[in-house]
Amino acid sequence: MPDPSQRVAMISGANRGIGAAIAGHLSEQGWALSLGVRNPAAWRPGPDAADVLVHGFDARQPGSEEKWVQATAEKFGRIDAVIANAGIASGRTVIEAEDGELDDLFQVNVRSPLRLVRSAWPWLVRAGTGRVVTIVSLSGLRVKSAKSGLYATSKFAALAMTHAIRHAGWDDGIRATAICPGFVATDMAFALSARAPEEMTQPADVARLVATVLDLPNTASVTEIPINSVLEEML
Ligand SMILES: NC(=O)c1ccc[n+]([C@@H]2O[C@H](COP(=O)([O-])OP(=O)(O)OC[C@H]3O[C@@H](n4cnc5c(N)ncnc54)[C@H](OP(=O)(O)O)[C@@H]3O)[C@@H](O)[C@H]2O)c1
Repeated sequence: MPDPSQRVAMISGANRGIGAAIAGHLSEQGWALSLGVRNPAAWRPGPDAADVLVHGFDARQPGSEEKWVQATAEKFGRIDAVIANAGIASGRTVIEAEDGELDDLFQVNVRSPLRLVRSAWPWLVRAGTGRVVTIVSLSGLRVKSAKSGLYATSKFAALAMTHAIRHAGWDDGIRATAICPGFVATDMAFALSARAPEEMTQPADVARLVATVLDLPNTASVTEIPINSVLEEML
């Protein structure tokens, strides 16, 4: 049986990469977890499985967010945090790409996270200290190159969405934070960059920042956290 005093975090794309690191770290910090993954059958539950719900979630299937939220509420009776992590990248310029690719990036990186937060909203309001964390990108803060431009277009929108959520939830104690890393050592970055993994930000360090944001009181709202492993002029 779940412990009703345990805080509950939903994490999308928790099966690998940054999402898996966040799940591992929050579990160590005592959170109960609801993990949204495309292939729940492939999941091997760990020793603390009583604290964990693994549920199907596909960002390209509108409605899967609502079903996942319902299952989370049924199991735990509360939702304290939503971590919108699942995302896709593109290495194409805005000129090369066609409408369909931009639509797909928006579906996964913007529309689905918003549907997820909307579905969980009554539970976040009920918590009084609800938290929304979006894993955006430095590409949500600046356009570094032509080839990151299409991805950046979706991540700028994800950043604006996070600010919009912060405004919408403020009076109900909901705080929203965009985590904005440069290259993080995951499959996504390995496909886009030749930089050595140890020269990239580590997923575990992103996870530590997420945990800190979740623990801050309503009077210490942090809106954006840029994270970089290399020197850039501004970030
Ligand atoms: N790695 C970086 O350099 C970097 C930098 C800045 C921001 N980010 C952002 O960080 C987030 C996590 O990325 P990552 O680096 O961990 O990438 P990753 O290793 O490629 O993992 C992506 C995750 O998103 C999930 N996902 C993709 N499409 C999905 C869909 N349609 N429905 C449900 N889940 C889906 C994947 O699930 P499957 O296993 O089923 O594919 C996987 O769990 C993304 O939003 C990304 O844009 C990454």
